[in-house]
Amino acid sequence: MATAMLRRTTTTISRLTSTGSGPSAPARLILSRLLASEVEAQKVEPHAKATSTTKTFSIYRWNPDNPTKPELQDYQIDLKECGPMVLDALIKIKNEIDPSLTFRRSCREGICGSCAMNIDGCNGLACLTKIQSSGSATTITPLPHMFVIKDLVVDMTNFYNQYKSIEPWLKRKNPPSVPGKEILQSKKDRAKLDGMYECILCACCSTSCPSYWWNPESYLGPAALLHANRWISDSRDEYTKERLDAINDEFKLYRCHTILNCARACPKGLNPGKQIINIKQLQLTK
Ligand code: SF4
Ligand code: SF4
Ligand code: FES
Repeated sequence: MATAMLRRTTTTISRLTSTGSGPSAPARLILSRLLASEVEAQKVEPHAKATSTTKTFSIYRWNPDNPTKPELQDYQIDLKECGPMVLDALIKIKNEIDPSLTFRRSCREGICGSCAMNIDGCNGLACLTKIQSSGSATTITPLPHMFVIKDLVVDMTNFYNQYKSIEPWLKRKNPPSVPGKEILQSKKDRAKLDGMYECILCACCSTSCPSYWWNPESYLGPAALLHANRWISDSRDEYTKERLDAINDEFKLYRCHTILNCARACPKGLNPGKQIINIKQLQLTK
């Protein structure tokens, strides 16, 4: 558009000055207005292009090697040159603007669970969260109430230890009749594991749970309890009672107050709160 205006302006100028004696006073006035509007058009057009697809990402920064106060740092991305997901924007920032930005990711398709973070106030996976194209900035912070190692990377040690504590493997009192032969399960019994086996241990649920925030060491949290129920419900496992006894504890299990933040946060659509209710019911009937 600016080029077309420039062409029109040039034609008008040559018409006004084609007399050979130089432009008259009114012609000079018209000329100066035309040139002024041309300059304005040149100024406005690139600016409009930049703002229509530019998005600001405010990202939590903290560096253990320079442990000053954490801060939010703004980065501008042209969405036309970026993939559609928040993880695409983070990778673009790291590759093209600031290689010091630190975050975890691996599969980029919601399988590994490593890109869990808080995006605009909600826990989620960066690789499954679409960039909002609205004008407001997107704020990205680490999973809440976790110790930060650097930027968006949090310490998962306590979370994994809690997972380990529920002994997430098949436990048998009777070995299979033929050594090395698999232990079969009916389709109906297999279906009882639906809604639990899909968990990718991303920690979005546990770090959105207020009870976990206040008692992260003593309350197992929704992710570990979901996995506890996964093994309690497995028809092939022969330690059901022992598993129930191990978590029948005021803190490990009963800090869950059925607020169900966990179900809202789960990027895989699971409902850990429901699995916890199941464990509590089994405690009453064992
Ligand atoms: S239902 Fe239980 S585990 Fe889930 S958020 Fe509420 S208190 Fe936490
Ligand atoms: S239950 Fe959902 S939110 Fe919780 S760890 Fe598993 S996949 Fe993540
Ligand atoms: S990168 Fe694997 S879940 Fe997001």
